[in-house]
Amino acid sequence: MERTPTGIKGFDELVEGGFPKGRSILLTGGCGTGKTIFSIQYLVEGAKTYSEPGIYVTLDERPNLLRQDMLGFGWDLRKLEEQGLLTIIDGSVAKTGLPSTEDNSIPLIGFDLEKLSLEILRTSKKTEAKRIVIDSLPGVGLSFETEGEARKAVLRLCALLEQTGATTLITSEIMEGENRFGRYGVEEFVVDGIVVLHYMGIGTQSNRTLHIRKMRATAHSEDLHPIKITKNGIVVKKIQESYENV
Ligand SMILES: Nc1ncnc2c1ncn2[C@@H]1O[C@H](COP(=O)(O)OP(=O)(O)OP(=O)(O)O)[C@@H](O)[C@H]1O
Ligand SMILES: [Mg+2]
Repeated sequence: MERTPTGIKGFDELVEGGFPKGRSILLTGGCGTGKTIFSIQYLVEGAKTYSEPGIYVTLDERPNLLRQDMLGFGWDLRKLEEQGLLTIIDGSVAKTGLPSTEDNSIPLIGFDLEKLSLEILRTSKKTEAKRIVIDSLPGVGLSFETEGEARKAVLRLCALLEQTGATTLITSEIMEGENRFGRYGVEEFVVDGIVVLHYMGIGTQSNRTLHIRKMRATAHSEDLHPIKITKNGIVVKKIQESYENV
C-alpha cells in the first residue's frame, strides 16, 4: 500500500507512514480543535517536503483571512500559490452569500455538491494535485431530507474525489461526547479513515488530543495522543512525553 505522509510531526508513525494513497480521510472534532490548522499543514508539508501540489477548498473561512492567519505559523500560502503548489478554491460564498474576488471560486447561484465536485475535478486536472482538502463538509450548507440521501451525496463526493487520484482530507464537526463522527452521521461509513481531534479544558491547562478511529488497510495506533499547537503548527506527542512534561 502506497502512503501519503502528512509530514505532521509525530503523526505518520501512528499510521504506517501516512494516509493510504488516493483515499478519503475524515478529520473531525469540535470547534477550535485544530482541524483547519491540521489540514493546511498537510498541504504545506506536502508542497514543501514532498513537492506535491495541493488544493484547499475553503467553505468556512475567507481565503484572505486564512492566508493571514497561517502566516503566524510561518506558512506563506500566497507564495505556494505562486509556485503552483497550492490552489485555494473559495467556497465561502456558499456561507456568506457574497461574490468572491478570488481566481478560483464556486458559483454563487445554484451551488451544490455536484458543482463543487466538478470544480475540484477540473482544478485537480489542471494542477495535478496529489492532495486535496475540503474544509468543511457542513460548510457546504447542505440539508438532506433523509440519512439515505446524505449518505448517497457523500458517497458520490468521495467517488468523484477518488477519480482525481489525490489523497483527500475532508473535515466535519462533532460535539464532544457525541456518538458519531460527522455532522450527517454518515460520513464515517463512506470514508477510508477517521482522525478525531479533542479539546478539553481541565483546570488551568488546556488539553488537546488526537486519536485514529479508523484507517483502512493500516495497523494504526488506538491510543489517545496528546497534541500541541506550536508556532510551527501541530505536533503529535507520544503518551509518555506528555507525562514527562507535567
Ligand atoms: N499560533 C497559535 N498558537 C497556538 N494555538 C493556536 C494558534 N493559532 C490558533 N491556535 C489555536 O487553534 C485554534 C483554532 O484552530 P483551527 O482553526 O484549526 O480549529 P478548527 O477545528 O478548524 O475550528 P472550527 O471548527 O472553528 O473551524 C484556536 O482556537 C486556538 O486555540
Ligand atoms: Mg476550521
